[in-house]
Amino acid sequence: MANLVYVQPNGARVSVDAPDGITVMQAAVDTAVEGIIGACAGSCACGTCHVYIDERYTSLLPPITPEEDHKLDEVAAPVKRNSRMACRVVVTSRLDGMVVHIPKTQG
Ligand code: FES
Repeated sequence: MANLVYVQPNGARVSVDAPDGITVMQAAVDTAVEGIIGACAGSCACGTCHVYIDERYTSLLPPITPEEDHKLDEVAAPVKRNSRMACRVVVTSRLDGMVVHIPKTQG
């Protein structure tokens, strides 16, 4: 389990206790966090789960795969060095406290 903090573009914060093994996208969708849509249910095909991971945590994440990198080329919001597709980030207890910033647009 990890506590994740989702931050909306307006600065509003939502704290979610996410079980190990689900993705950062699924944890948001399951708890109705606005701004993460997950239209393809996590198959890295829709581009609606783009997030910016707090840079204190990026070193704990698995590397970006070519599939994820390709999808990041198609997202609506600007891509930054801490951009990830939330459906490619699996929750583990090591991510406890991770802050996840949500971009203004998805798609
Ligand atoms: S849920 Fe569709 S790309 Fe992540």
